[in-house]
Amino acid sequence: MNVPNHIAIILDGNGRWAKAKGMPRSYGHVKGCANLETICDDMKELGVKYLTVYAFSTENWKRSREEVEGLMKLFRNYLKKCIKISEKNQMRVKIIGDITAFDEDIQQKIVELEEFSKDYTELHFQIALNYGSRDEIVRGIRRLAQDAAEGKIDPKEIDEEQIGNYLDTAGIPDPDLLIRTSGEQRLSNFLLWQLAYTEFYFTDVPWPDFHKPELIQAIEAYNHRDRRYGGVKEES
Ligand code: IPE
Ligand code: IPE
Ligand code: MG
Repeated sequence: MNVPNHIAIILDGNGRWAKAKGMPRSYGHVKGCANLETICDDMKELGVKYLTVYAFSTENWKRSREEVEGLMKLFRNYLKKCIKISEKNQMRVKIIGDITAFDEDIQQKIVELEEFSKDYTELHFQIALNYGSRDEIVRGIRRLAQDAAEGKIDPKEIDEEQIGNYLDTAGIPDPDLLIRTSGEQRLSNFLLWQLAYTEFYFTDVPWPDFHKPELIQAIEAYNHRDRRYGGVKEES
């Protein structure tokens, strides 16, 4: 089995999963968060080097106050716990997204986790929090324009690589496989630039039920894809 170097996942369906069980949406988020821990173990075991997950979008603030507060509580706990998980898996953790919107203590926990894990190389784990691809591009272009205005960059020299360096994912290779759980077939503002040549895999399985067998199924489907990058495949 050819294991993708970088897998990105849109963790979707926590709410519907809980509702189907007659439970509040918050219960789905708790179980979804627990599943994130096990999936990191699975990724490491399978030899995946980069994992990027979409956990909270710039649009998710539109949810009820109760749901958003529950998610913030979950992030607080998880970010703390993640220090131990990063050590266990030797994984480097990075948060992508605009973290300035979070309470001070959450921002502090993010800094601590990133600092603690910065030298690990077994698995590179990116968590998208208050992430929106359009917002990421706007923030990046602002910095780029500022650097151009200050004469640090010549506008004629701006190329794709340089734009990539102004995104939150600078230095991280583009995903090979994108998985979205729970049936929806859209990107919901996730990694619009980075997914240009990524293979997409959609499954009806909701995120809290997506475990190692489902992951292997996704990787097997990926193995049957014919990646071309715009070229022509050699006759065989
Ligand atoms: C994904 O599950 C988690 C977040 C967006 C925070 P949802 O909360 O979107 O669950 P559904 O899609 O409503 O079932
Ligand atoms: C996308 O899921 C965001 C995350 C998984 C964090 P949503 O559930 O928010 O997306 P829509 O609203 O169905 O497009
Ligand atoms: Mg959803």
